[in-house]
Amino acid sequence: MPKVRRLFVCRQCGASQARWLGKCPDCNTWDSLEETSFDPSTEKDPHKSLTLAWQDLADPGASEGAGAQQTRLADASTAGVAKPLADILRDGAGAAPIERIPTGIRELDRTLGISLAPDGTPLTGGLVPGSAVLVGGEPGIGKSTLLLQAAFAWANQGTKVLYVSSEESAEQVGVRAKRVGGGQSAIVRKSDSAKVKGAAPEPSPLSHSGTLAPSHSSSLLYLLHDTNLARIVEQVRKVQPRILVIDSVQMIYRADVSAAPGSVTQLRRCCTELVYLAKTAGIAVVLVGHVTKDGTLAGPRLLEHLVDTVLSFEGDRSHSHRVVRAIKNRFGSTLEIGLFEMGGSGLREVAEGGVVGALANQDTPRPGCVLVPIMTGTRCLIVEVQALTATGFLGAAKRKCSGLDANRLAMLIAVLEQHAGLRLADRDIFASSVGGIKVLDPASDLALLLAIAGAHYRKALPPRAAAMGEVGLSGEVRPIPNLEQRVREAVRLGCKTIVIPNAHDPRDLPADATKAQGVEVVRVRTVDDAIGVLG
Ligand code: TYD
Ligand code: MG
Repeated sequence: MPKVRRLFVCRQCGASQARWLGKCPDCNTWDSLEETSFDPSTEKDPHKSLTLAWQDLADPGASEGAGAQQTRLADASTAGVAKPLADILRDGAGAAPIERIPTGIRELDRTLGISLAPDGTPLTGGLVPGSAVLVGGEPGIGKSTLLLQAAFAWANQGTKVLYVSSEESAEQVGVRAKRVGGGQSAIVRKSDSAKVKGAAPEPSPLSHSGTLAPSHSSSLLYLLHDTNLARIVEQVRKVQPRILVIDSVQMIYRADVSAAPGSVTQLRRCCTELVYLAKTAGIAVVLVGHVTKDGTLAGPRLLEHLVDTVLSFEGDRSHSHRVVRAIKNRFGSTLEIGLFEMGGSGLREVAEGGVVGALANQDTPRPGCVLVPIMTGTRCLIVEVQALTATGFLGAAKRKCSGLDANRLAMLIAVLEQHAGLRLADRDIFASSVGGIKVLDPASDLALLLAIAGAHYRKALPPRAAAMGEVGLSGEVRPIPNLEQRVREAVRLGCKTIVIPNAHDPRDLPADATKAQGVEVVRVRTVDDAIGVLG
Protein backbone atom coordinates (compact mmCIF):
# COMPACT_ATOMS: atom_id res chain seq x y z
CA MET A 1 0.00 0.00 0.00
CA PRO A 2 1.60 3.31 -1.04
CA LYS A 3 2.34 5.79 1.68
CA VAL A 4 0.07 8.82 1.96
CA ARG A 5 2.28 11.90 1.61
CA ARG A 6 1.98 15.28 3.33
CA LEU A 7 2.18 18.42 1.26
CA PHE A 8 1.69 22.13 1.80
CA VAL A 9 -0.37 23.81 -0.90
CA CYS A 10 -0.73 27.56 -1.42
CA ARG A 11 -4.33 28.73 -1.21
CA GLN A 12 -3.71 31.54 -3.63
CA CYS A 13 -1.73 30.02 -6.45
CA GLY A 14 -1.93 26.29 -5.81
CA ALA A 15 1.83 25.71 -5.77
CA SER A 16 2.85 22.87 -3.47
CA GLN A 17 5.82 22.75 -1.11
CA ALA A 18 7.34 19.89 0.82
CA ARG A 19 7.39 21.84 4.09
CA TRP A 20 5.54 24.71 5.67
CA LEU A 21 6.79 28.21 4.88
CA GLY A 22 5.54 31.58 6.12
CA LYS A 23 5.44 32.95 2.59
CA CYS A 24 4.66 31.15 -0.64
CA PRO A 25 7.84 31.30 -2.75
CA ASP A 26 5.77 31.23 -5.95
CA CYS A 27 3.27 34.03 -5.45
CA ASN A 28 4.78 35.75 -2.38
CA THR A 29 1.56 35.58 -0.36
CA TRP A 30 2.07 35.39 3.39
CA ASP A 31 0.52 32.68 5.51
CA SER A 32 -1.16 30.98 2.58
CA LEU A 33 0.27 27.44 2.82
CA GLU A 34 -2.13 24.82 4.03
CA GLU A 35 -1.33 21.26 4.96
CA THR A 36 -2.86 18.59 2.79
CA SER A 37 -2.25 14.93 2.25
CA PHE A 38 -2.43 13.00 -0.95
CA ASP A 39 -2.31 9.42 -1.95
CA PRO A 40 0.26 9.02 -4.74
CA SER A 41 -1.63 6.06 -6.18
CA THR A 42 -4.73 8.13 -7.01
CA GLU A 43 -2.76 11.28 -7.80
CA LYS A 44 -1.03 9.55 -10.69
CA ASP A 45 -4.39 8.72 -12.21
CA PRO A 46 -6.91 11.08 -10.68
CA HIS A 47 -9.70 9.25 -12.44
CA LYS A 48 -8.88 5.93 -10.86
CA SER A 49 -11.06 6.48 -7.82
CA LEU A 50 -13.74 8.21 -9.86
CA THR A 51 -14.37 5.98 -12.81
CA LEU A 52 -16.44 3.52 -10.83
CA ALA A 53 -18.35 6.24 -9.06
CA TRP A 54 -19.57 7.77 -12.33
CA GLN A 55 -19.92 4.60 -14.31
CA ASP A 56 -23.61 4.24 -13.64
CA LEU A 57 -24.27 7.95 -13.91
CA ALA A 58 -25.75 7.95 -17.36
CA ASP A 59 -29.20 6.43 -17.14
CA PRO A 60 -28.83 2.86 -18.41
CA GLY A 61 -32.33 3.19 -19.84
CA ALA A 62 -31.43 6.22 -21.90
CA SER A 63 -30.53 4.88 -25.28
CA GLU A 64 -27.72 7.25 -26.15
CA GLY A 65 -26.37 8.33 -22.75
CA ALA A 66 -24.96 5.01 -21.59
CA GLY A 67 -23.69 4.16 -25.03
CA ALA A 68 -21.89 7.45 -25.40
CA GLN A 69 -20.33 7.04 -22.01
CA GLN A 70 -19.18 3.53 -22.76
CA THR A 71 -17.52 4.80 -25.90
CA ARG A 72 -15.81 7.54 -23.95
CA LEU A 73 -14.52 5.11 -21.36
CA ALA A 74 -13.37 2.78 -24.10
CA ASP A 75 -11.68 5.73 -25.78
CA ALA A 76 -9.84 6.43 -22.57
CA SER A 77 -8.40 2.94 -22.43
CA THR A 78 -7.09 3.11 -25.99
CA ALA A 79 -5.79 6.65 -25.56
CA GLY A 80 -2.08 7.20 -25.92
CA VAL A 81 -1.71 6.35 -29.60
CA ALA A 82 -0.15 9.27 -31.39
CA LYS A 83 -1.80 10.18 -34.68
CA PRO A 84 -0.90 12.69 -37.38
CA LEU A 85 -3.03 15.83 -37.21
CA ALA A 86 -4.06 15.28 -40.83
CA ASP A 87 -5.70 11.97 -39.87
CA ILE A 88 -7.56 13.58 -37.02
CA LEU A 89 -8.84 16.33 -39.31
CA ARG A 90 -9.78 13.77 -41.96
CA ASP A 91 -11.81 11.91 -39.35
CA GLY A 92 -14.01 14.95 -39.19
CA ALA A 93 -12.70 16.72 -36.09
CA GLY A 94 -13.21 20.45 -36.40
CA ALA A 95 -15.44 20.09 -39.47
CA ALA A 96 -18.71 20.72 -37.70
CA PRO A 97 -19.09 23.83 -35.56
CA ILE A 98 -18.95 23.20 -31.80
CA GLU A 99 -22.41 22.58 -30.38
CA ARG A 100 -23.52 25.22 -27.90
CA ILE A 101 -26.37 25.79 -25.49
CA PRO A 102 -27.28 29.47 -25.80
CA THR A 103 -28.88 31.41 -22.95
CA GLY A 104 -30.31 34.04 -25.22
CA ILE A 105 -28.57 36.59 -22.98
CA ARG A 106 -26.33 37.88 -25.75
CA GLU A 107 -23.74 39.45 -23.51
CA LEU A 108 -23.17 36.16 -21.71
CA ASP A 109 -23.32 33.94 -24.79
CA ARG A 110 -20.68 36.00 -26.55
CA THR A 111 -18.36 35.82 -23.55
CA LEU A 112 -18.77 32.04 -23.33
CA GLY A 113 -17.63 31.81 -26.93
CA ILE A 114 -19.15 31.83 -30.40
CA SER A 115 -19.10 28.88 -32.79
CA LEU A 116 -18.03 29.54 -36.33
CA ALA A 117 -19.52 27.92 -39.41
CA PRO A 118 -17.01 26.20 -41.76
CA ASP A 119 -16.98 29.34 -43.91
CA GLY A 120 -16.10 31.47 -40.89
CA THR A 121 -19.45 33.17 -40.26
CA PRO A 122 -20.26 33.44 -36.57
CA LEU A 123 -23.11 31.23 -35.39
CA THR A 124 -24.65 31.17 -31.96
CA GLY A 125 -22.67 31.54 -28.75
CA GLY A 126 -23.20 29.77 -25.46
CA LEU A 127 -22.16 26.98 -23.17
CA VAL A 128 -20.45 23.93 -24.70
CA PRO A 129 -22.02 20.63 -23.54
CA GLY A 130 -19.59 18.64 -21.43
CA SER A 131 -17.45 21.63 -20.58
CA ALA A 132 -16.59 22.98 -17.15
CA VAL A 133 -16.86 26.71 -16.53
CA LEU A 134 -15.65 28.52 -13.45
CA VAL A 135 -17.20 31.89 -12.64
CA GLY A 136 -15.05 33.84 -10.20
CA GLY A 137 -15.69 37.15 -8.52
CA GLU A 138 -15.75 38.99 -5.25
CA PRO A 139 -18.56 38.21 -2.84
CA GLY A 140 -21.68 40.27 -3.46
CA ILE A 141 -20.79 41.23 -7.01
CA GLY A 142 -23.76 39.34 -8.47
CA LYS A 143 -22.55 35.86 -9.46
CA SER A 144 -25.57 34.09 -8.02
CA THR A 145 -27.89 36.58 -9.68
CA LEU A 146 -26.23 36.12 -13.07
CA LEU A 147 -26.28 32.35 -12.90
CA LEU A 148 -29.86 32.19 -11.71
CA GLN A 149 -30.89 34.39 -14.62
CA ALA A 150 -28.85 32.25 -16.97
CA ALA A 151 -30.47 29.12 -15.51
CA PHE A 152 -33.90 30.61 -16.11
CA ALA A 153 -32.91 31.46 -19.66
CA TRP A 154 -31.59 27.96 -20.37
CA ALA A 155 -34.74 26.42 -18.92
CA ASN A 156 -36.83 28.73 -21.10
CA GLN A 157 -34.99 27.40 -24.13
CA GLY A 158 -35.91 23.86 -23.18
CA THR A 159 -32.69 22.75 -21.46
CA LYS A 160 -32.91 20.93 -18.16
CA VAL A 161 -30.87 22.73 -15.49
CA LEU A 162 -30.01 21.71 -11.94
CA TYR A 163 -29.07 24.71 -9.82
CA VAL A 164 -27.29 23.61 -6.67
CA SER A 165 -27.18 26.39 -4.12
CA SER A 166 -24.77 25.47 -1.37
CA GLU A 167 -24.81 28.87 0.31
CA GLU A 168 -28.42 29.88 0.24
CA SER A 169 -31.47 27.85 1.16
CA ALA A 170 -33.90 26.91 -1.57
CA GLU A 171 -36.34 29.50 -0.17
CA GLN A 172 -33.72 32.23 -0.46
CA VAL A 173 -33.08 31.24 -4.05
CA GLY A 174 -36.82 31.24 -4.60
CA VAL A 175 -37.07 34.82 -3.30
CA ARG A 176 -34.24 35.85 -5.59
CA ALA A 177 -35.83 34.01 -8.50
CA LYS A 178 -39.00 35.97 -7.90
CA ARG A 179 -37.04 39.19 -7.80
CA VAL A 180 -35.11 38.62 -10.99
CA GLY A 181 -38.05 36.98 -12.68
CA GLY A 182 -40.42 39.89 -12.17
CA GLY A 183 -38.71 42.59 -14.18
CA GLN A 184 -36.68 40.85 -16.81
CA SER A 185 -39.42 39.87 -19.15
CA ALA A 186 -36.94 39.39 -21.99
CA ILE A 187 -35.14 36.74 -20.02
CA VAL A 188 -37.80 35.32 -17.73
CA ARG A 189 -41.44 35.49 -18.58
CA LYS A 190 -43.73 36.82 -15.87
CA SER A 191 -45.80 33.67 -15.76
CA ASP A 192 -42.68 31.66 -14.97
CA SER A 193 -41.73 33.74 -11.98
CA ALA A 194 -45.25 33.46 -10.62
CA LYS A 195 -44.90 29.71 -10.76
CA VAL A 196 -41.84 29.89 -8.54
CA LYS A 197 -43.96 31.28 -5.77
CA GLY A 198 -46.76 28.82 -6.21
CA ALA A 199 -44.51 25.84 -6.64
CA ALA A 200 -43.49 25.23 -3.04
CA PRO A 201 -46.55 23.32 -1.77
CA GLU A 202 -46.57 20.95 -4.72
CA PRO A 203 -44.92 17.59 -4.15
CA SER A 204 -41.40 17.94 -5.34
CA PRO A 205 -39.52 15.25 -7.21
CA LEU A 206 -36.53 16.13 -5.04
CA SER A 207 -38.36 16.94 -1.83
CA HIS A 208 -36.49 14.54 0.42
CA SER A 209 -33.34 16.60 0.72
CA GLY A 210 -34.43 20.14 1.22
CA THR A 211 -35.14 20.93 -2.39
CA LEU A 212 -37.71 23.08 -4.03
CA ALA A 213 -40.17 21.88 -6.57
CA PRO A 214 -39.45 22.52 -10.24
CA SER A 215 -39.75 26.25 -10.48
CA HIS A 216 -40.22 26.64 -14.16
CA SER A 217 -43.47 26.31 -16.02
CA SER A 218 -41.96 23.54 -18.07
CA SER A 219 -40.36 22.06 -14.92
CA LEU A 220 -36.92 22.32 -16.39
CA LEU A 221 -35.19 24.36 -13.70
CA TYR A 222 -34.48 22.31 -10.59
CA LEU A 223 -33.17 23.79 -7.36
CA LEU A 224 -31.25 21.90 -4.73
CA HIS A 225 -29.75 23.09 -1.48
CA ASP A 226 -26.95 20.73 -0.54
CA THR A 227 -23.24 20.78 0.12
CA ASN A 228 -22.40 17.07 0.04
CA LEU A 229 -20.92 16.07 -3.29
CA ALA A 230 -22.20 12.50 -3.15
CA ARG A 231 -25.77 13.66 -2.54
CA ILE A 232 -25.47 16.23 -5.31
CA VAL A 233 -24.30 13.54 -7.73
CA GLU A 234 -27.21 11.37 -6.62
CA GLN A 235 -29.60 14.20 -7.57
CA VAL A 236 -27.77 14.69 -10.86
CA ARG A 237 -28.40 11.05 -11.62
CA LYS A 238 -32.10 11.39 -10.81
CA VAL A 239 -32.72 14.70 -12.57
CA GLN A 240 -30.40 14.05 -15.57
CA PRO A 241 -29.81 17.73 -16.31
CA ARG A 242 -27.85 19.01 -19.28
CA ILE A 243 -26.46 21.84 -17.20
CA LEU A 244 -25.36 21.69 -13.58
CA VAL A 245 -24.73 24.96 -11.72
CA ILE A 246 -22.85 24.77 -8.41
CA ASP A 247 -23.04 27.98 -6.39
CA SER A 248 -20.50 27.97 -4.81
CA VAL A 249 -17.89 25.25 -5.16
CA GLN A 250 -16.15 26.45 -2.00
CA MET A 251 -18.95 25.09 0.16
CA ILE A 252 -19.04 21.63 -1.43
CA TYR A 253 -17.34 18.79 0.42
CA ARG A 254 -16.61 15.11 0.08
CA ALA A 255 -17.37 13.23 3.26
CA ASP A 256 -14.42 10.88 2.82
CA VAL A 257 -11.90 13.73 2.75
CA SER A 258 -11.19 14.94 6.26
CA ALA A 259 -10.25 18.52 5.31
CA ALA A 260 -12.75 21.35 5.87
CA PRO A 261 -14.97 22.58 3.01
CA GLY A 262 -13.23 25.35 1.11
CA SER A 263 -9.78 23.99 1.91
CA VAL A 264 -7.36 23.25 -0.87
CA THR A 265 -7.77 19.49 -0.58
CA GLN A 266 -11.57 19.57 -0.67
CA LEU A 267 -11.67 22.10 -3.50
CA ARG A 268 -9.27 20.18 -5.65
CA ARG A 269 -10.96 16.84 -5.10
CA CYS A 270 -14.49 18.14 -5.58
CA CYS A 271 -13.55 20.17 -8.63
CA THR A 272 -11.68 17.29 -10.28
CA GLU A 273 -14.70 15.08 -9.81
CA LEU A 274 -17.13 17.66 -11.12
CA VAL A 275 -14.95 18.22 -14.19
CA TYR A 276 -14.77 14.48 -14.71
CA LEU A 277 -18.55 14.35 -14.37
CA ALA A 278 -18.82 17.00 -17.07
CA LYS A 279 -16.58 15.04 -19.44
CA THR A 280 -18.03 11.59 -18.91
CA ALA A 281 -21.72 12.38 -18.69
CA GLY A 282 -21.66 15.26 -21.19
CA ILE A 283 -23.17 17.64 -18.63
CA ALA A 284 -22.02 21.25 -18.75
CA VAL A 285 -20.89 22.16 -15.25
CA VAL A 286 -20.80 25.79 -14.12
CA LEU A 287 -18.91 26.37 -10.88
CA VAL A 288 -19.01 29.56 -8.87
CA GLY A 289 -15.93 30.52 -6.85
CA HIS A 290 -15.31 33.48 -4.59
CA VAL A 291 -12.14 35.45 -4.86
CA THR A 292 -11.48 36.82 -1.43
CA LYS A 293 -9.03 39.59 -0.74
CA ASP A 294 -7.88 38.24 2.60
CA GLY A 295 -7.50 34.70 1.28
CA THR A 296 -9.48 32.95 4.01
CA LEU A 297 -11.03 30.69 1.38
CA ALA A 298 -8.98 28.97 -1.25
CA GLY A 299 -8.94 31.21 -4.26
CA PRO A 300 -10.33 29.76 -7.48
CA ARG A 301 -6.85 30.18 -8.96
CA LEU A 302 -6.27 26.61 -7.90
CA LEU A 303 -9.13 25.49 -10.06
CA GLU A 304 -8.30 27.51 -13.14
CA HIS A 305 -6.21 24.83 -14.76
CA LEU A 306 -8.84 22.16 -14.14
CA VAL A 307 -11.67 23.81 -16.02
CA ASP A 308 -12.20 24.69 -19.68
CA THR A 309 -13.37 28.24 -19.25
CA VAL A 310 -12.76 30.78 -16.51
CA LEU A 311 -15.07 33.77 -16.43
CA SER A 312 -14.42 36.65 -14.13
CA PHE A 313 -17.33 38.74 -12.96
CA GLU A 314 -16.01 42.18 -12.19
CA GLY A 315 -17.25 45.57 -11.28
CA ASP A 316 -17.39 47.98 -8.49
CA ARG A 317 -20.03 47.21 -5.93
CA SER A 318 -20.77 50.90 -5.60
CA HIS A 319 -21.39 51.18 -9.33
CA SER A 320 -24.16 49.42 -11.14
CA HIS A 321 -22.10 48.18 -14.08
CA ARG A 322 -20.78 44.65 -14.11
CA VAL A 323 -18.46 43.08 -16.64
CA VAL A 324 -18.14 39.39 -17.44
CA ARG A 325 -14.74 38.67 -18.90
CA ALA A 326 -13.29 35.38 -20.10
CA ILE A 327 -9.82 34.87 -18.61
CA LYS A 328 -9.35 31.45 -20.12
CA ASN A 329 -11.50 29.88 -22.79
CA ARG A 330 -10.79 26.62 -24.55
CA PHE A 331 -13.85 27.13 -26.75
CA GLY A 332 -13.66 30.79 -27.62
CA SER A 333 -11.90 34.09 -27.45
CA THR A 334 -10.75 35.75 -24.25
CA LEU A 335 -11.12 39.20 -25.74
CA GLU A 336 -14.86 39.40 -25.46
CA ILE A 337 -16.66 40.96 -22.54
CA GLY A 338 -20.29 41.03 -21.55
CA LEU A 339 -21.69 44.15 -20.00
CA PHE A 340 -24.52 44.20 -17.47
CA GLU A 341 -26.16 46.66 -15.19
CA MET A 342 -27.41 45.65 -11.74
CA GLY A 343 -30.88 46.95 -11.08
CA GLY A 344 -33.70 46.34 -8.67
CA SER A 345 -34.77 43.25 -10.53
CA GLY A 346 -31.47 41.58 -11.29
CA LEU A 347 -28.96 42.13 -14.05
CA ARG A 348 -29.89 43.84 -17.27
CA GLU A 349 -27.86 43.60 -20.45
CA VAL A 350 -26.23 46.82 -21.60
CA ALA A 351 -27.02 46.82 -25.28
CA GLU A 352 -24.31 46.74 -27.89
CA GLY A 353 -22.58 50.08 -28.09
CA GLY A 354 -24.29 51.43 -25.00
CA VAL A 355 -22.85 54.47 -23.37
CA VAL A 356 -21.41 53.92 -19.96
CA GLY A 357 -21.94 57.02 -17.91
CA ALA A 358 -24.64 59.54 -18.66
CA LEU A 359 -24.69 61.18 -22.06
CA ALA A 360 -27.04 63.76 -20.58
CA ASN A 361 -25.83 67.36 -20.45
CA GLN A 362 -23.59 66.73 -23.40
CA ASP A 363 -24.85 69.94 -24.98
CA THR A 364 -23.37 72.15 -22.28
CA PRO A 365 -19.57 72.38 -22.28
CA ARG A 366 -18.08 70.46 -19.40
CA PRO A 367 -14.38 71.05 -18.81
CA GLY A 368 -12.56 67.94 -17.71
CA CYS A 369 -15.00 65.45 -19.28
CA VAL A 370 -14.23 63.71 -22.58
CA LEU A 371 -15.95 60.81 -24.35
CA VAL A 372 -13.87 58.05 -25.88
CA PRO A 373 -14.85 54.92 -27.82
CA ILE A 374 -12.84 51.99 -26.43
CA MET A 375 -12.56 48.49 -27.85
CA THR A 376 -13.15 45.44 -25.72
CA GLY A 377 -12.83 42.37 -27.89
CA THR A 378 -14.95 42.92 -30.97
CA ARG A 379 -17.24 45.46 -29.43
CA CYS A 380 -16.93 49.16 -29.09
CA LEU A 381 -18.03 50.93 -25.96
CA ILE A 382 -18.27 54.67 -25.42
CA VAL A 383 -17.05 55.72 -21.98
CA GLU A 384 -16.50 59.08 -20.41
CA VAL A 385 -13.22 59.93 -18.72
CA GLN A 386 -13.11 62.78 -16.27
CA ALA A 387 -10.31 64.70 -14.63
CA LEU A 388 -10.09 67.31 -11.93
CA THR A 389 -7.13 69.41 -10.92
CA ALA A 390 -6.92 71.10 -7.55
CA THR A 391 -4.36 73.07 -5.59
CA GLY A 392 -1.78 70.75 -4.08
CA PHE A 393 1.66 71.06 -2.53
CA LEU A 394 4.82 71.21 -4.56
CA GLY A 395 6.59 67.90 -4.18
CA ALA A 396 3.58 66.18 -2.65
CA ALA A 397 0.92 66.57 -5.33
CA LYS A 398 -1.59 63.73 -5.42
CA ARG A 399 -2.20 61.76 -8.61
CA LYS A 400 -5.11 59.41 -8.15
CA CYS A 401 -7.22 57.54 -10.62
CA SER A 402 -10.09 55.11 -10.59
CA GLY A 403 -10.86 52.79 -13.49
CA LEU A 404 -7.76 54.02 -15.35
CA ASP A 405 -4.12 52.98 -15.42
CA ALA A 406 -2.11 54.98 -12.85
CA ASN A 407 1.13 54.60 -14.82
CA ARG A 408 -0.53 55.91 -17.95
CA LEU A 409 -1.86 58.88 -15.96
CA ALA A 410 1.64 59.72 -14.68
CA MET A 411 3.02 59.47 -18.21
CA LEU A 412 0.36 61.78 -19.66
CA ILE A 413 0.98 64.35 -16.94
CA ALA A 414 4.68 64.32 -17.84
CA VAL A 415 3.84 64.72 -21.55
CA LEU A 416 1.57 67.68 -20.74
CA GLU A 417 4.32 69.34 -18.72
CA GLN A 418 7.08 68.76 -21.26
CA HIS A 419 5.30 69.20 -24.57
CA ALA A 420 2.31 71.40 -23.87
CA GLY A 421 3.80 73.71 -21.26
CA LEU A 422 1.26 73.01 -18.50
CA ARG A 423 2.57 73.54 -14.98
CA LEU A 424 1.14 70.68 -12.97
CA ALA A 425 3.87 70.04 -10.39
CA ASP A 426 1.86 71.60 -7.58
CA ARG A 427 -1.58 70.49 -8.77
CA ASP A 428 -3.42 67.50 -7.36
CA ILE A 429 -4.84 65.49 -10.25
CA PHE A 430 -7.76 63.10 -9.99
CA ALA A 431 -9.02 61.10 -12.93
CA SER A 432 -11.72 58.50 -13.30
CA SER A 433 -13.78 56.61 -15.83
CA VAL A 434 -17.50 57.08 -15.34
CA GLY A 435 -19.61 54.07 -14.46
CA GLY A 436 -16.86 51.91 -12.97
CA ILE A 437 -15.64 50.51 -16.31
CA LYS A 438 -11.92 49.74 -16.41
CA VAL A 439 -10.40 51.64 -19.32
CA LEU A 440 -7.14 50.04 -20.39
CA ASP A 441 -7.28 50.76 -24.14
CA PRO A 442 -4.29 52.99 -25.11
CA ALA A 443 -6.62 54.80 -27.51
CA SER A 444 -8.06 56.53 -24.44
CA ASP A 445 -4.79 58.45 -23.90
CA LEU A 446 -5.88 61.47 -25.89
CA ALA A 447 -9.22 61.69 -24.09
CA LEU A 448 -7.57 61.54 -20.68
CA LEU A 449 -4.97 64.09 -21.71
CA LEU A 450 -7.69 66.46 -22.97
CA ALA A 451 -9.65 65.91 -19.77
CA ILE A 452 -6.67 66.93 -17.64
CA ALA A 453 -5.78 69.92 -19.84
CA GLY A 454 -9.45 70.94 -19.97
CA ALA A 455 -9.76 70.76 -16.20
CA HIS A 456 -6.57 72.79 -15.81
CA TYR A 457 -7.54 75.54 -18.26
CA ARG A 458 -11.28 75.25 -17.52
CA LYS A 459 -11.96 74.79 -21.18
CA ALA A 460 -14.07 72.10 -22.76
CA LEU A 461 -14.26 70.37 -26.10
CA PRO A 462 -17.19 71.43 -28.29
CA PRO A 463 -20.50 69.85 -27.20
CA ARG A 464 -20.96 66.19 -28.15
CA ALA A 465 -17.30 65.57 -28.91
CA ALA A 466 -15.30 62.36 -28.65
CA ALA A 467 -11.52 62.06 -28.78
CA MET A 468 -9.38 59.01 -29.52
CA GLY A 469 -5.68 58.43 -30.04
CA GLU A 470 -2.61 57.07 -28.38
CA VAL A 471 -0.16 59.62 -27.00
CA GLY A 472 3.57 59.01 -27.43
CA LEU A 473 6.29 60.24 -25.11
CA SER A 474 7.47 62.83 -27.62
CA GLY A 475 4.07 64.47 -27.59
CA GLU A 476 2.81 62.98 -30.86
CA VAL A 477 -0.66 61.56 -31.27
CA ARG A 478 -0.30 58.06 -32.66
CA PRO A 479 -2.72 56.07 -34.81
CA ILE A 480 -5.00 53.49 -33.23
CA PRO A 481 -6.52 50.22 -34.41
CA ASN A 482 -10.21 49.89 -35.38
CA LEU A 483 -10.58 53.59 -36.16
CA GLU A 484 -13.51 53.06 -38.50
CA GLN A 485 -15.52 51.05 -35.99
CA ARG A 486 -14.90 53.58 -33.24
CA VAL A 487 -15.86 56.55 -35.38
CA ARG A 488 -19.00 54.81 -36.62
CA GLU A 489 -20.05 54.06 -33.07
CA ALA A 490 -19.42 57.62 -31.90
CA VAL A 491 -21.40 58.98 -34.86
CA ARG A 492 -24.21 56.53 -34.23
CA LEU A 493 -24.52 57.72 -30.66
CA GLY A 494 -24.78 61.33 -31.72
CA CYS A 495 -21.28 62.76 -31.45
CA LYS A 496 -20.84 65.90 -33.56
CA THR A 497 -17.09 66.46 -33.27
CA ILE A 498 -14.52 63.69 -33.42
CA VAL A 499 -10.84 64.23 -32.66
CA ILE A 500 -8.61 61.62 -34.31
CA PRO A 501 -4.88 61.17 -34.93
CA ASN A 502 -3.64 62.88 -38.09
CA ALA A 503 -1.59 59.84 -39.08
CA HIS A 504 -4.66 57.92 -40.26
CA ASP A 505 -5.38 57.62 -43.94
CA PRO A 506 -8.58 59.53 -44.83
CA ARG A 507 -9.82 56.27 -46.36
CA ASP A 508 -9.86 54.71 -42.86
CA LEU A 509 -12.74 57.01 -42.00
CA PRO A 510 -16.34 56.04 -42.65
CA ALA A 511 -16.95 59.06 -44.89
CA ASP A 512 -20.57 58.03 -45.52
CA ALA A 513 -21.41 58.13 -41.82
CA THR A 514 -19.59 61.35 -40.97
CA LYS A 515 -20.90 63.26 -44.01
CA ALA A 516 -24.49 62.18 -43.52
CA GLN A 517 -24.55 63.34 -39.92
CA GLY A 518 -22.58 66.54 -40.51
CA VAL A 519 -19.86 65.42 -38.16
CA GLU A 520 -16.73 67.50 -37.96
CA VAL A 521 -13.56 65.41 -37.93
CA VAL A 522 -10.60 67.16 -36.36
CA ARG A 523 -7.18 65.67 -37.08
CA VAL A 524 -4.44 66.32 -34.58
CA ARG A 525 -0.75 65.62 -35.01
CA THR A 526 0.59 66.59 -31.63
CA VAL A 527 -0.61 67.15 -28.09
CA ASP A 528 -0.39 70.91 -28.75
CA ASP A 529 -2.79 70.60 -31.70
CA ALA A 530 -5.19 68.64 -29.51
CA ILE A 531 -5.17 71.24 -26.75
CA GLY A 532 -5.93 73.84 -29.43
CA VAL A 533 -9.30 72.11 -29.97
CA LEU A 534 -10.32 73.00 -26.41
CA GLY A 535 -12.16 76.28 -26.48
P1 TYD B 1 -25.36 38.04 -5.34
O1 TYD B 1 -25.78 37.57 -6.69
O2 TYD B 1 -25.84 37.27 -4.18
O3 TYD B 1 -23.78 38.12 -5.30
P2 TYD B 1 -22.72 36.92 -5.20
O4 TYD B 1 -23.39 35.65 -5.51
O5 TYD B 1 -21.66 37.29 -6.21
O6 TYD B 1 -22.17 36.95 -3.83
O7 TYD B 1 -25.88 39.54 -5.17
C1 TYD B 1 -25.11 40.66 -5.31
C2 TYD B 1 -25.77 41.94 -4.87
O8 TYD B 1 -26.67 42.39 -5.85
C3 TYD B 1 -26.53 41.86 -3.59
O9 TYD B 1 -25.84 42.62 -2.63
C4 TYD B 1 -27.84 42.50 -3.86
C5 TYD B 1 -27.75 43.03 -5.25
N1 TYD B 1 -28.94 42.79 -6.05
C6 TYD B 1 -29.56 43.84 -6.68
O10 TYD B 1 -29.14 45.00 -6.58
N2 TYD B 1 -30.67 43.60 -7.46
C7 TYD B 1 -31.17 42.34 -7.62
O11 TYD B 1 -32.16 42.15 -8.32
C8 TYD B 1 -30.51 41.25 -6.95
C9 TYD B 1 -31.05 39.84 -7.08
C10 TYD B 1 -29.41 41.51 -6.19
MG1 MG C 1 -23.74 34.04 -4.22
